[in-house]
Amino acid sequence: MASSQVLLIERDGPVVTLTVNRPEKLNAMNAEVRRAMFDALAALRDDAEARVLVLTGAGDKAFIAGSDIAEFEGRTAVQQYRAMQAGDVYSVFDLFPKPVIAMLNGYCLGGGCELAMACDIRIASDRAKLGQPEISLGIIPGAGGTQRLPRLVGEGMALRLIYTGEMIDAAQGKEIGLVDDVVPHEELRPRTMELARRIASKSPAALQAAKEAVKAAARMPLGEGLRYEKVLFGLLFSTEDKEEGVKAFLEKRTPQFKGR
Ligand code: COA
Repeated sequence: MASSQVLLIERDGPVVTLTVNRPEKLNAMNAEVRRAMFDALAALRDDAEARVLVLTGAGDKAFIAGSDIAEFEGRTAVQQYRAMQAGDVYSVFDLFPKPVIAMLNGYCLGGGCELAMACDIRIASDRAKLGQPEISLGIIPGAGGTQRLPRLVGEGMALRLIYTGEMIDAAQGKEIGLVDDVVPHEELRPRTMELARRIASKSPAALQAAKEAVKAAARMPLGEGLRYEKVLFGLLFSTEDKEEGVKAFLEKRTPQFKGR
């Protein structure tokens, strides 16, 4: 699968890095970026060699500074509705059947923050800044921010960030649970890659089931979620990877998961 100009795709063994490449616009997401994301995710979904995705932004300043505000100017409600009907790339990341790590290398704002929240794990540079500044444009977060943010940080903190539109730094992000880890800027890539490789060494079926089960916690009542977990747990007993994992433990060796 080829990179597009606005979305670079790099492979390092089982880890695939997607880099939004509009550094001159702080990687603001426009229709072209979203289309490239849809295409990349559709191809990577069925690519057995790709086991973990890392999402980041080009340059040293921004992860993604939001949706491209230039696209909003003069746009009517009907046009905006149609644009949103083109598909929800945030949910595609959220539901993607493999782990996705957001590597926050700078500004992570608006749609960028919403996309990071749709990823599974957020690792931030100590230079990253996060926020939902939509209120200053006279709008609200419209890509999951009002739903995913309170689930991560609680209602009060979510409303405070959304009402004020103010940015917080990575350390504050970690404190409130928006960011999972903060690392020195120079170490962001190696530390993220090391985590991605560690995850990629696990059974893809087990990773997929783990993601499904954990994400179900936000969508299902506890009783349903617990039942769903058991179904997924039982299903994994049909995989060769489960036999390999158990055998490897008993034989005191490292398992070699084949994704079967
Ligand atoms: N959409 C479109 N363009 C954007 C953008 C966005 N979300 N964020 C930044 N840019 C563009 C700027 O317009 C500027 O383009 P130009 O050089 O052609 O004028 C370029 O990226 C660099 O941004 P600039 O504002 O000059 O950088 P800065 O360091 O002074 O400020 C920010 C950085 C992040 C504080 C500022 O760019 C900003 O507030 N961006 C908008 C964030 C936002 O509201 N996001 C939510 C959108 S729904």
